[in-house]
Amino acid sequence: MSRIRLLPETVASQVAAGEVVERPASVVKELIENSIDAGSCKIDIVIRRGGISLVRVIDDGWGMDRDDALLSLERHATSKIRSAADLQAVATLGFRGEALPSIASVSRFRLTTRETGAIAGTEIVVNGGKIDMVRDGGEAPGTQVEVRSLFYNLPARRKFLRSENTESRNIEHQIHLQAIGHPQIGFSLLRDGHMLFQLPAAAALGDRIRDLYGIKLLERLVEVNGTPSRNIHIGGFIGQAGLSRQTRAQQLVFVNGRAIQSGLLTAAIREGYHTALMKGQFPVTFLFLEIDAAAVDVNVHPAKREVRFRDPTAVREAIVHSIQQTLERGRVEWQQKFRAPSVVPAAIPEKSTPDLRLRRDTIAPEESHRELPHLGPVVAGVGSAAMALTRADDPVRASLPPTASQTRRRPVSAADSTDDPSALQRSQQLAAQQQFQIIGVLSKLYVLMENADGLVLVDQHAAHERILFEELRRRMEEQGVLTQKLLLPETFDVPPRDADWIERNISILQKMGIGIESFGPGTFKIDSLPGFLSVSDPSQFMRKVIDDLKSAGNSTSPMRLGEEMIAKTVCRHAVKANDPLRYPEIEKLIRDLLECDLPYCCPHGRPTMIQLSLAELEKKFGRKI
Ligand SMILES: Nc1ncnc2c1ncn2[C@@H]1O[C@H](COP(=O)(O)OP(=O)(O)OP(=O)(O)O)[C@@H](O)[C@H]1O
Ligand SMILES: [Mg+2]
Repeated sequence: MSRIRLLPETVASQVAAGEVVERPASVVKELIENSIDAGSCKIDIVIRRGGISLVRVIDDGWGMDRDDALLSLERHATSKIRSAADLQAVATLGFRGEALPSIASVSRFRLTTRETGAIAGTEIVVNGGKIDMVRDGGEAPGTQVEVRSLFYNLPARRKFLRSENTESRNIEHQIHLQAIGHPQIGFSLLRDGHMLFQLPAAAALGDRIRDLYGIKLLERLVEVNGTPSRNIHIGGFIGQAGLSRQTRAQQLVFVNGRAIQSGLLTAAIREGYHTALMKGQFPVTFLFLEIDAAAVDVNVHPAKREVRFRDPTAVREAIVHSIQQTLERGRVEWQQKFRAPSVVPAAIPEKSTPDLRLRRDTIAPEESHRELPHLGPVVAGVGSAAMALTRADDPVRASLPPTASQTRRRPVSAADSTDDPSALQRSQQLAAQQQFQIIGVLSKLYVLMENADGLVLVDQHAAHERILFEELRRRMEEQGVLTQKLLLPETFDVPPRDADWIERNISILQKMGIGIESFGPGTFKIDSLPGFLSVSDPSQFMRKVIDDLKSAGNSTSPMRLGEEMIAKTVCRHAVKANDPLRYPEIEKLIRDLLECDLPYCCPHGRPTMIQLSLAELEKKFGRKI
């Protein structure tokens, strides 16, 4: 059955023009996309010498009859769109009718195809764009395209290719993208005679991620599931806060099944991960955006790598919200990680090994300790009474643990409180609620804990940073930021564009704790600043704030800059490495951390905890190979 037609000249001329075949990976991409569009269930790829010597893609899709097979090699011949109107709502991966002729013109090309149910198939050989042979072929139903000696007739282009290894890696990345984008299709890759992977058709995306990247990665991902607006659905998986990479290689985004690169989406993802990502690091995402085909223009890039959204702001906001919600949901799973092992191993040998755990009171001598503020109710949130901002001159410092010399209060611990009934009750309550088992502290910094999976290490400094950060942010959101009056109000001048901007955003600035008002054309007066900041030059500080806020864009939450200011300051106030903590303080620190929205990383995105599983330990000790 003939499906393919030549596009009318007027439509063909509207297709984004440019280089279709840049390198072997583009050949692989185009061929796989064709196989997917042809309803294939299984796609096998063979490459040799970085794809320069050979790329072969074999599918079990619906194939083509002889007329279509011949027509498919003409420019602007496609079965996927018919008119300019179709170009406005493309539902297939291909739409231009350009890939096959482009590839065939720069290689030694062979197409073998057979429709399901047809008696015979067709084989066509093309060299450098010229059809050399057409004959009946007897292959299995489906299509096989073989591309040899890429750019053999364009030596200048061939020179621009990278090493075979690099080209192979590009191809692998391309196949990963397609395989993640289409888990329901089986994929295999044979590289220079070695089978690199064979991925069975997967029932769900999670299975595909596991098959391709391993169960360990899957375990550190959180599923995204939301319809943040009526027209946009966002699904897939994203890395828990604290999980990041040095490159963007695992930051995958799909729009209607098409892997795309987009500055807009990358920025939205970063914003969603705000405070959950280390500087210079990239999140891991397998994000799927489903949106009405008419609301996205795919006809903008010659290699179909980019798209344009009709309503970019809605898309951006949808992504930011989905990521924030997902990361917060991931917290529940994280809390479970801290559960102490519930089952004692069944067979404890007669002469069991000595208990190497430190006793609570031997963690460190009492005198040398700093104390963390005490909790109000046992499982209070971070907003415990002890965090109250009592010293107006320095609210952050006031929320910090007093040093040992500042306090005469004897700390309460499960061990030393038996003579006080209310303390006893508290400690019993505490023990009942305690879901983690602290083993000790390493190097005055890492809290060692045992959980069902093995060993958990918590960085006490990073943990305290996160707790303080969330506490201050909560205060900022609920009451507005506490402000501190300047001794002398200051005036400063700004250029007219900035003056306009300040006028428009003056209420946001005030909410952030900046007492600012207009003081004549292009001049402003500040008489107070957020209390948790220590600023030596208020005018310079204001100029920086304006620059930061302006670059953050209009859709950024007004709280965002305040968050950044807090993140920058808490670090200086949090307990440091080398600050020895007593057992109850450590316990409180962990409990407060568990109450945080994003407990697994500090406000700068560094992890607060690391898990070392029993399986890893067994491997290291040579118990398991
Ligand atoms: N593996 C395949 N199985 C079945 N039909 C195919 C296959 N590959 C290509 N075709 C047919 O050949 C036509 C031309 O393919 P080609 O890749 O050149 O263009 P396209 O996919 O329509 O658009 P684009 O240039 O955007 O990829 C397709 O429209 C499709 O009908
Ligand atoms: Mg195509």
